[in-house]
Amino acid sequence: MTITTQTSPLVKAEGITKIFGTGDKEMVALSGLNLEVKEGEFLSLLGPSGCGKSTALNIMGGLLRATEGTITFGGEPMTEPRRQIGMMFQQAVMFPWRTTLENVLLPVEIFGESKKEFKPKAQELLSMVGISEFENSYPWQLSGGMQQRAALARVLLHDPKLLLLDEPFGALDEFTRETMNQELLRLQNYANSTAVLVTHNITEAVFMSDRIAVMSARPGRLVGILEVPFDRPRRPELQTTNDFIKLVAEARSMLELQ
Ligand SMILES: Nc1ncnc2c1ncn2[C@@H]1O[C@H](COP(=O)(O)OP(=O)(O)OP(=O)(O)O)[C@@H](O)[C@H]1O
Ligand SMILES: [Mg+2]
Repeated sequence: MTITTQTSPLVKAEGITKIFGTGDKEMVALSGLNLEVKEGEFLSLLGPSGCGKSTALNIMGGLLRATEGTITFGGEPMTEPRRQIGMMFQQAVMFPWRTTLENVLLPVEIFGESKKEFKPKAQELLSMVGISEFENSYPWQLSGGMQQRAALARVLLHDPKLLLLDEPFGALDEFTRETMNQELLRLQNYANSTAVLVTHNITEAVFMSDRIAVMSARPGRLVGILEVPFDRPRRPELQTTNDFIKLVAEARSMLELQ
């Protein structure tokens, strides 16, 4: 007798359509998107600018409502932001009048919890992302990369089950971006969380992901899913192997075939 264990997806999006505006200002940003995010995986949403990646991510995070379709998180309808879901955006959202540590503790205040209780954890996370000596500095005293490290610490504070990452290192130079991507993979593994990354960088999508959801230009639809079978941890040298280059070419042709 064979026993098959079926784990239900952490996120399930069915027939998601998002229309912005009304009348002749109406704009279909997403059209009938079906997507499952499996527990523990690293999934990328890859597609051209304006195809609705951020819109899809914001719907998954409960920041936006779909016009049509349903979305569930852990089997329950997504209707509002949850503590179990951490979001990161292209620009680190940091308040200039707060120190790094106070910025990392911001979600604790938003959820009305005790800052004292969370302070040791915030400090541990700042040390994990390599900026503990800056805990009392203000954001303007930090480089862009350091600010994103602080944002990464903040997003991990509540042990999120799901990380939603909207080109979090897009504003950084290529070298810092690669380093931060490595950090992100290390921390995702450490935190045992599931991740969805929005990107329009094909190489980055292949390097980071277990699966890539390739999207079409507006209105955004799912073109197909590409499986990325490489072992983890992944080293930068992987990018020079034939298998890696082949997958990048495959993703590119999926994007171009629309
Ligand atoms: N709040 C909004 N109101 C009106 N239109 C919007 C809104 N948000 C997004 N759009 C439109 O929906 C479409 C998809 O936008 P979205 O930001 O999701 O694209 P994207 O794939 O993330 O693009 P990029 O890669 O440039 O970030 C765009 O045409 C955009 O102008
Ligand atoms: Mg976007």
